[in-house]
Amino acid sequence: MNHLIKVFGLVMMLTVAMLAAMIQYLQFSIYKYMFHVTNIPGTYQISDDVYRNIFELIESRGFIYEQHFVTTPDGYILQLVRMVNPFIKIEDRIRLRPILLHHGYQCSGTIWLVAMNGHLDHNGNYYEMDEQKQILTNSSNQMGNSLGFILTARGYDVWLANYRGSIYSRNHTHLDIESNEYWKFSMDQLIKYDLPVQIDYIISYTKHTKLSYIAHSQGALIMFALMSMNNSYAEKIEPFIALAPAFCSFHSKVDSLFKYSASMRNVFLSYPQRFPPLIISSLLRTLCQNYFIKHLCFVFNYLIVGTQKRTIFPERLPIYIGAETMGASTWVTAHLMQLILKNDNMMNSSIDSETTKECQLEYFDYGEAENLRFYGQRTPPIYDVAKINSTKIALIYAKKDFLIGNSVQSLKSKLNVKLLDDYEIPDQTYSHMDLFWAKNSGEMVNKKVLEILNST
Ligand SMILES: *[C@@H]1O[C@H](CO)[C@@H](O)[C@H](O)[C@H]1NC(C)=O
Ligand SMILES: *[C@@H]1O[C@H](CO)[C@@H](O)[C@H](O)[C@H]1NC(C)=O
Ligand SMILES: *[C@@H]1O[C@H](CO)[C@@H](O)[C@H](O)[C@H]1NC(C)=O
Ligand SMILES: *[C@@H]1O[C@H](CO)[C@@H](O)[C@H](O)[C@H]1NC(C)=O
Ligand SMILES: *[C@@H]1O[C@H](CO)[C@@H](O)[C@H](O)[C@H]1NC(C)=O
Repeated sequence: MNHLIKVFGLVMMLTVAMLAAMIQYLQFSIYKYMFHVTNIPGTYQISDDVYRNIFELIESRGFIYEQHFVTTPDGYILQLVRMVNPFIKIEDRIRLRPILLHHGYQCSGTIWLVAMNGHLDHNGNYYEMDEQKQILTNSSNQMGNSLGFILTARGYDVWLANYRGSIYSRNHTHLDIESNEYWKFSMDQLIKYDLPVQIDYIISYTKHTKLSYIAHSQGALIMFALMSMNNSYAEKIEPFIALAPAFCSFHSKVDSLFKYSASMRNVFLSYPQRFPPLIISSLLRTLCQNYFIKHLCFVFNYLIVGTQKRTIFPERLPIYIGAETMGASTWVTAHLMQLILKNDNMMNSSIDSETTKECQLEYFDYGEAENLRFYGQRTPPIYDVAKINSTKIALIYAKKDFLIGNSVQSLKSKLNVKLLDDYEIPDQTYSHMDLFWAKNSGEMVNKKVLEILNST
């Protein structure tokens, strides 16, 4: 049985890869055909959210947005989308507490917005509802699931990050996004350039001295790395809430698949581009609305991120999968593969085992010769999180989040500071993306987030 699942996983991966290659090749005609849902038998559009972009999502719920652009020292122009609550007077907005929400690998700012349908009523109360428009939560009593809207409705000044190369951050002072030159960046550049300029911009724009930072997965990884490099961010960021923080260890339901793909690191290195191509996200959105294909989408999503059908609103799966496949750079992917390969001995360790195994977050490995040039040593240096001196870090994670392997354990064993909060989600069905998608994520996660914000 186990063997069957592995084979099935591999076949699914290969199929998607082949589809991607085929479609890249035949791009336009097929794309146009596929994109029209009604052309495929058995497909119907489950919600307008499936094809909404970040701006349409914000407006559809009754909020307003502002676009802000910041330029990194290496020329990438990043877009910060600021959410505005129309029920708060302009002169009062300056007093609101700024929060930067940072998405993880393969995602974009939309990840904070799409958990459920919702709307802001004429009194300024934000409600969330299911696809039948049945109200499930309202802001005055229960917590909603879409953290971006929950925080904005409650009077926080919410900024959504979009990392370089995201469809919302495509511009560069002189490089073309289609060129390979553009895509030559790893997590090191997200850490060294992107995060600091975004933080410093928001702090100076809002004239506040501190910024709250909430991030999922790789969004948390980059903040741990930045704080380990530069203690001035320990002063500026308060609190840092790390949701399902990825760090140095990664694990898969289909172990062989991860190891196998990680060993193709050189292929990714030699081809700096977006991975996967944008078309994949639109294709999956469309295909996963198909009555026949959607079952495969559940299996696929389960194998990759561990989300179980019964924990989420299953009709929203196409929206969730679309939001999880927005693309990253092949070099960022190669950086993750490097960590998988380096910490390979952890791949076969059960995540239930209590033994803490050591793993390290390394800088990008360019190969010996280039490493000497960049780092003055043959092997990449490590990000030493033992140097972090912030006492405002809170962790929120699921025990059975296999995707980030032993990241949480490793982090906790390395950090020398007392955590503001160390919260293991009590619901044992949670895996990596359920912090967004689970039906009860409002109660399980967002409530805790608000509690932490209130205490700092
Ligand atoms: C929110 O829901 C609760 C119970 O579900 C209800 O008592 C309350 O009136 C609702 N609030 C608003 C503003 O509708
Ligand atoms: C690129 O820059 C232009 C001009 O500043 C702006 O209008 C556009 O929204 C930007 N696009 C992206 C995806 O960053
Ligand atoms: C840390 O970041 C600040 C900007 O916030 C910068 O001025 C300073 O040079 C940085 N320090 C190091 C060691 O990089
Ligand atoms: C894990 O894999 C390594 C080599 O890849 C092997 O030496 C070790 O015995 C394995 N551990 C377990 C528990 O299977
Ligand atoms: C952290 O380090 C910075 C710079 O070294 C220092 O100014 C600050 O007081 C330290 N904070 C704590 C909580 O130790």
